[in-house]
Amino acid sequence: MKALVLYYSKEGGNTEKIAKRLAEGTGADIERIETVLDYNAETVDEQGKKEVDEKFMPPIKQLTKNVKDYDVIMLGTPTWWYSMAPAIRTFLNSVSVEEKIVVLFQTHAGRPGNAIGDMRALCKGAVLADENIIEFDLNTNELVTDINEIDAWIKKIKDDILWN
Ligand SMILES: Cc1cc2nc3c(=O)[nH]c(=O)nc-3n(C[C@H](O)[C@H](O)[C@H](O)COP(=O)(O)O)c2cc1C
Repeated sequence: MKALVLYYSKEGGNTEKIAKRLAEGTGADIERIETVLDYNAETVDEQGKKEVDEKFMPPIKQLTKNVKDYDVIMLGTPTWWYSMAPAIRTFLNSVSVEEKIVVLFQTHAGRPGNAIGDMRALCKGAVLADENIIEFDLNTNELVTDINEIDAWIKKIKDDILWN
């Protein structure tokens, strides 16, 4: 099974940490999804709310990896206003994950909302497996979820899906 980890993470933060651990633990390829225009740190909360509310899809940079080449896509997002980050909405509306195994994961800071459910609705024709919701501290960005739980999740993906 050929697997790819894709993630959005503002300024290389929490979601990136999980994505990298997942890619290292499973031997998967990894690539970061980035918006063409960066968010301004001072206005991102407000702009993010508007974008999430309006289901706005900001342009994202072309990926170097081709999703078509993979059997398994592991897709991670931070929670933005109880949903997925807008860049992930752009991605799921522009690339087909039909007939692929998709593992969704989400980081949050105490109020996870429905990011995973919202992403699931955009994964038409995919086989969804082993999703995970991971908490970080809002102020310190320290992991709140037990690291052993995360490693057990990674091992389960390896054993059950990737067989490597
Ligand atoms: C625009 C914006 C909106 C957010 N909304 C939520 C939210 O609704 N619930 C929550 O628990 N955390 C929320 N957060 C916090 C992030 O989801 C959390 O810190 C996440 O782990 C950040 O991941 P990152 O460092 O990979 O970007 C928000 C952060 C931003 C920037």
